[in-house]
Amino acid sequence: MKFETIAIRTQTERGKQNEHSTPIFATSSYLFNDADEMRMIFSDEMPGNVYSRYTNPSVREFENKIALLEHTEDARATTTGMAAIFTAFACLLGQGDHVLMSQAVFGSTIKIMENFFSKWGITYTLVNSENAEDWEEFILPNTRLLYFETPSNPGLQIFRLQSFADMCKKHGIISIVDNCFATPYLQQPAKHGIDMVIHSATKYIDGQGRVMGGVIAGKKEHITAIEQFMRNAGPSLSPFNAWVLSKSLETLAVRMDRHCSNALALAEWLSGQDKIKRVSYPFLESHPSYEIAKQQMKAGGGIVAFELDGDLQMGKNLLNNIGMLSMSANLGDTRSIITHPASTTHSKLTEEQRKLVGINASLIRVSVGLEHIDDIIADVEQALIKA
Ligand SMILES: Cc1ncc(COP(=O)(O)O)c(C=O)c1O
Repeated sequence: MKFETIAIRTQTERGKQNEHSTPIFATSSYLFNDADEMRMIFSDEMPGNVYSRYTNPSVREFENKIALLEHTEDARATTTGMAAIFTAFACLLGQGDHVLMSQAVFGSTIKIMENFFSKWGITYTLVNSENAEDWEEFILPNTRLLYFETPSNPGLQIFRLQSFADMCKKHGIISIVDNCFATPYLQQPAKHGIDMVIHSATKYIDGQGRVMGGVIAGKKEHITAIEQFMRNAGPSLSPFNAWVLSKSLETLAVRMDRHCSNALALAEWLSGQDKIKRVSYPFLESHPSYEIAKQQMKAGGGIVAFELDGDLQMGKNLLNNIGMLSMSANLGDTRSIITHPASTTHSKLTEEQRKLVGINASLIRVSVGLEHIDDIIADVEQALIKA
């Protein structure tokens, strides 16, 4: 079946009410028919639900869909995207291990390495390049994980998935990609040989700015280990949020098509404005990795970044004159959102770290929503004139 059909037709087994749409399984625990069945389900000798920290039908529906859409063997859902990243690292890493991580990742991902994993005896190297060959010299005998985002947040750097997957295989390293910006509709890293895929489901998967969630998809051996970790550590997704996210996946394809066409139209319009120094969008021919983006992504995604031809004050003036677009920290919503990464999402990084990944003071990020493109452009245009 095709993407859209899988996203709609993967469903929890129908119940006695013959419901068409899956209900929410709002239950923390489950019943057993007799003592023997209880013992066998508890000891994993027989499949079944025990407790919703372990498994829940609403959550399993969401996880099963993601595994199918990402072309991975299995998946596990977490409370947030950061919980997914933390869970994957905590489960797969041990004392003395080393992690290779792109410098161009979401700020909190770097912060958990800096503030937590490093104090538990895990070392890491941040690499500032989207070329796999440049990473090879940083590989150590104890390097266990390699982690990056493509497209990256908010610089929209593109990493060639196949090259990183091949390099990791050669050195016996587990490769993990944060696929949040692309979603499984635009790109499936596992098809290129990446071992594990992570999402902040809070973004395009929900797509309407309502709930938080995360998901880890990958090989059975890794996901089984992650499941064991989650059963005990407890970052499991709530049934309500899983239900919302599973329903949202039903419309992901049509939403992403419009996010992408609106974003491309805004990027093209911005490119023709003289107050704009640089526009970054993976499907603009001017993007340095345009060819790679075309090869591994179905479309360019919903995020556009641009630099004003002016100072920090001009950036502030632009934001202060915006009328319709929301000034908010999220992305991947139906509502277009405008942010200033240097003072918000990436403010936790030092100026030096921000410079390394191309986030300068006048960089503006727009998460292009599903409003009519004419209204989105009109709002940015009037704010630019006033700025
Ligand atoms: C690329 C990326 N990964 C991970 C996260 C963290 O996700 P969450 O906010 O759901 O914890 C974010 C949040 O903005 C993100 O943009």
